[in-house]
Amino acid sequence: MQRTAMHIRTDLHTLESTALAATHSAALASRAWVGRHDKEAADGAATEAMRQALAGAAGRGTVVIGEGEKDEAPMLYNGEVVGDGGGPDFDIAVDPLEGTSFCAKNHPGAMATIAFAEPGTLWSPGPGFYMDKIVVPPQAKGVIDLDHPPEQTLKRVALALGKRVRDLRVVIMDKPRHQELIARVLRAGAAVHTPAEGDVGGSLEVLLPDGDADLLLGIGGTPEGVMTAAAVRALGGDMLGRLAPQREDEAAAIRAAGMSVDRVLTRDELVGGDALFAATGVSGGSLLSRPRESGGTVTAESLLISSGQVRRVTHTTFGSLPVARG
Ligand code: FBP
Repeated sequence: MQRTAMHIRTDLHTLESTALAATHSAALASRAWVGRHDKEAADGAATEAMRQALAGAAGRGTVVIGEGEKDEAPMLYNGEVVGDGGGPDFDIAVDPLEGTSFCAKNHPGAMATIAFAEPGTLWSPGPGFYMDKIVVPPQAKGVIDLDHPPEQTLKRVALALGKRVRDLRVVIMDKPRHQELIARVLRAGAAVHTPAEGDVGGSLEVLLPDGDADLLLGIGGTPEGVMTAAAVRALGGDMLGRLAPQREDEAAAIRAAGMSVDRVLTRDELVGGDALFAATGVSGGSLLSRPRESGGTVTAESLLISSGQVRRVTHTTFGSLPVARG
C-alpha cells in the first residue's frame, strides 16, 4: 500500500476508537493490580490487554516506542507490527501502564497511555532511557530553550503566560537528580509540584486547559517523552528534549549508536506529523478517575487528545472489574 500524508491524516481520526479501546482494556486489566505491590504483574496485565486490543485494529501499526527490545519484552516490543493489515499504516508509542508504582501502591496518577502517529514521524531514542524535558502550554510556544538557566525559563514562561514568576506552578518529579533544580525554582519564587513519578501526567497538567500546572521541567524517561510530545503537538503546546543518560553504560550505548547527548530535539523532531494521544485512568487522581464497578456495570474515564481538542470519554460496559490472577 502506498503511504501518503493525506491518506494517513484522514485515517488517524478513524484510529481514535482503536486508541481508546487499547487504553481502556489496559486500564481495566491493571486496575485489578492496584494496591497489590506487584509492579511487574500490573504492567504485564496492562500490556497483554493492550496487545489484544491492538491486534484487531484496522490497519498496520508499527510499535516504535514499546516495552523494549524483543528479547526483553515478549509483548509490544519495538518493531512489533499490530493490526489486521486492512487499513492505514501508522506508528505507535505505548506505555500500557504509566506510573507502575502508583498502581502497585494504590497512589493516584497511574494511567494507561498510547500515541498514534503518521508512519516514520516518531523519534526513536535508541538505547537512551532518559531525557531532559521542558513542556509548556500553547501560550508559551517558542520561548523555551534547554540551555537557559531555570530562572530565565521561569521569567520567559511567566511573561508569555501573563503571570508573575511567583504565580507559576512547576512540575518537577521528586528525584534525587532534581534536588538542585527544585531548590532553584523555589528560590526564584515559583510553586513546585513534586510527584514521585509520572511526567506524562505532569505534562498533561500543563497542557490541559483546566490543568493544574504551567510548565514541566526535569529528566524523565524517553518513551514518556515521545508519548508526551504527541499530546503536546496535538494541542499546539511546546516541548524540548535532550538525551540525558543517567549511567555510564547508557551513555556508552548512546555513543555507540552514533547519537548525541548535545542535540536538542524540538517538539516537531520528537513527533514529526499528525498525532493523537489517549489515556485511561487506573488508580484515580486529578486527571482521570479510576475504573469503578456499580450495579453490574464498569465505568472508566479516558482522555482523547487530537487535532487541537481534548475530549473526555466515559465508557460504561456491563460486567465486573477483572480480578488479579497469578
Ligand atoms: P513507569 O511507570 O513506566 O515506571 O514510569 C514512571 C516514570 O515516573 C515516568 O513517568 C518517568 O518518565 C520515568 O518513570 C522516570 O524514571 P525513573 O523513575 O527511573 O527516574
